[in-house]
Amino acid sequence: MTQRQLTFAANWKMNHGPAETRAFAERFLALTTPVEGRRLWFFPAAVSIGPMSEAMKSRADVEIGAQNVHWEPKGAYTGGISIPMVTEVGARLTLVGHSERRHLFGETDEQVARKTRAALAAGITPLVCVGETLAERDGGRTEPVILRQTGAVLAALPATDWDRVVLAYEPVWAIGTGKNATPDDAAQVHELIRMALSRNGISARVPILYGGSVNPENVASLLTRPQLDGVLVGGASLTPEGWAEVIDRGSKAKVCPSGGYDLIEG
Ligand code: 13P
Repeated sequence: MTQRQLTFAANWKMNHGPAETRAFAERFLALTTPVEGRRLWFFPAAVSIGPMSEAMKSRADVEIGAQNVHWEPKGAYTGGISIPMVTEVGARLTLVGHSERRHLFGETDEQVARKTRAALAAGITPLVCVGETLAERDGGRTEPVILRQTGAVLAALPATDWDRVVLAYEPVWAIGTGKNATPDDAAQVHELIRMALSRNGISARVPILYGGSVNPENVASLLTRPQLDGVLVGGASLTPEGWAEVIDRGSKAKVCPSGGYDLIEG
């Protein structure tokens, strides 16, 4: 049985071009050191994937990913970026189905499933995001929405592929709003997702991250919940100092007295 790793993932959204990325990286490298059992992921804008990968190549604990990819390797898809293109410049991960892709760009469950399959086929890790809107939560529909979004990916993948998938629960109402889910809210939905996976014979080793207004003040209380394997962070990951602080406080919350990270073993 392997212990799941503690993951801190930074989604920079449409921020930080190549020059800002290089400056961030230089400062961040000075602020952090690798810690066993902890991995640091960055999802920069597409044009900054190469510079970030280059800047972080001395750090085995850091991996870089794309925020979005097309499922086709090439073709007439104006504005699209393919998985071979992002891997060529150093990406080893990709976000899939982020709520901003779903709600601002109309990405469907079916497209999320296709992108997840394409990422796995190309050998990169998909970080698949699910989450309900405020109207869905207020209407008591959190559970069916999460189960539908997770189910679309479950239906698209054989159980054996799941050892290379990472999930993120990001309630849409908590993203960029300053309203984060309480540790109880988050843990409850993480458990729901875990149950859906286990009903489909998927190993408990699939990490599930939480995202939505995570910051240095709330990261510790969220990560003390054993259901959370890490965080996916937007705004609070944009400065090297702020992000290093989130990582530091979150890491301390998860360390168990015997050393290592206090995650559920699968
Ligand atoms: P914020 O941390 O800015 O709320 O964004 C969360 C998010 O969408 C990460 O993917």
